[in-house]
Amino acid sequence: MAKIDFKGRVAIVTGAGAGLGRCHALELAKRGAKVVINDLGGSRDGVGSSDAAANKVVDEIKALGGQAVPNYDNVATAQGGANIVKTAIDAFGKVDILINNAGILRDKSFLKMEEENWDSVMAVHLRGAYCVTRPAFENMREHGFGRIVMTTSGAGIFGNFGQSNYAAAKTGLIGLTNVIKLEGAKYNIKVNILAPVAASRLTEDVLPPAFFEKMKPDYVTPAVLYMCSEQCQDSGMIINAALGYFSRSAIVTGPGAFLSDGAKIPTPEDVMDNWGKITSLENAQYFYQLPDMFGALAPLLK
Ligand code: NAI
Repeated sequence: MAKIDFKGRVAIVTGAGAGLGRCHALELAKRGAKVVINDLGGSRDGVGSSDAAANKVVDEIKALGGQAVPNYDNVATAQGGANIVKTAIDAFGKVDILINNAGILRDKSFLKMEEENWDSVMAVHLRGAYCVTRPAFENMREHGFGRIVMTTSGAGIFGNFGQSNYAAAKTGLIGLTNVIKLEGAKYNIKVNILAPVAASRLTEDVLPPAFFEKMKPDYVTPAVLYMCSEQCQDSGMIINAALGYFSRSAIVTGPGAFLSDGAKIPTPEDVMDNWGKITSLENAQYFYQLPDMFGALAPLLK
C-alpha cells in the first residue's frame, strides 16, 4: 500500500486552533507537511478574537518535531484571505494544500433568523472559503499542484431544523467546488468536500452525550488527509465522515419523463399526471458537469 506522505508540501488549515482543524493540522504535520495554523480565536458564535488558539496548536506541532506558523486573520475578509496565503508563502515558499475549515454557528428558526445572524454565518463559511481559496488557487496554479478541501455539513446536504443560515452557506460550498474543480483540473488542482460529524464546541449541545464522548475528530481526519494527498485524483467528491464510517453523497438526477416530442408544449396536467416518474430516482445518474446533463435531452434534439 502506497504511504501517504506530505514531505515538501505546504498546507493551510483555517480554523485550526481547535476541533477538526487542529486534528487535520496535527496529522498533516506528523506526515511532514509545513502548516499554517490559522485561527481568529473567537467564540463559537464568532465574537471576539485571540492569538491563543493558533499559538497553542503551533506549539503542539513544534513539540512533535513538526513545522508550523500561526496566523490570526479573519477568513471572512479578502485582506484576511490574502494575508493567510502570504503567511504560507513568506514562511514556506508556496501553498500546496488548503483546508477550508473555519466555522461558527448562529442557530435560530427561520423567522427568528435576523439579518446579522444570516450575514455573519454566510461570511465565515462561504465568503471565507472564497477569500482564502482565491489567492491559494492562484499560487497552486503557478506551480501546478493543489489539493483543496471544503468543509460542508449534513445540515446543508440533508437539512437540519434551525440552521437555515448555516445550511445555505455550507451548501454554497458545493456549488463553488463544482466550478473550481473544472477550472483547476488542468493545473492538477483537485477540490473535494468533507461532511464531518465530530465532537467539538460546535456540537457539544447537539450530539447526545454518549455520541459526544466517542466521536473524536481523529476518526474524520483520515479522509481529509487522503483528499489532500498526491494519490487522490478525484475532484468534486462529497465525503461523509464520522467515527470511522465514510461514504459519498452526491447530487444525482433521475431518468425523468419525456412529456413532449420536442414540438408539443406539455400542460401542467401532463406534469401532474407524470409526477411520480419525474421525481423517481431509480437509475439516477451523477453528472460531473452541466454539459454532461445536456446528453439527457438528446432524444428531443434529433
Ligand atoms: P470548532 O469551533 O472547534 O472549530 C472552528 C474553529 O474555527 C475555531 O477554532 C474558531 O476560532 C475558528 N474560526 C471561526 N471563525 C473564524 C474566522 N472568521 N477566521 C478564522 N478562524 C475562525 O468547530 P469544529 O466542529 O471543529 O468545526 C470545524 C468545521 O467543521 C466547521 O466549518 C464546521 O461548520 C464544520 N462541521 C463540523 C461538524 C461537527 O460535527 N463538528 C459537522 C459538520 C460540519
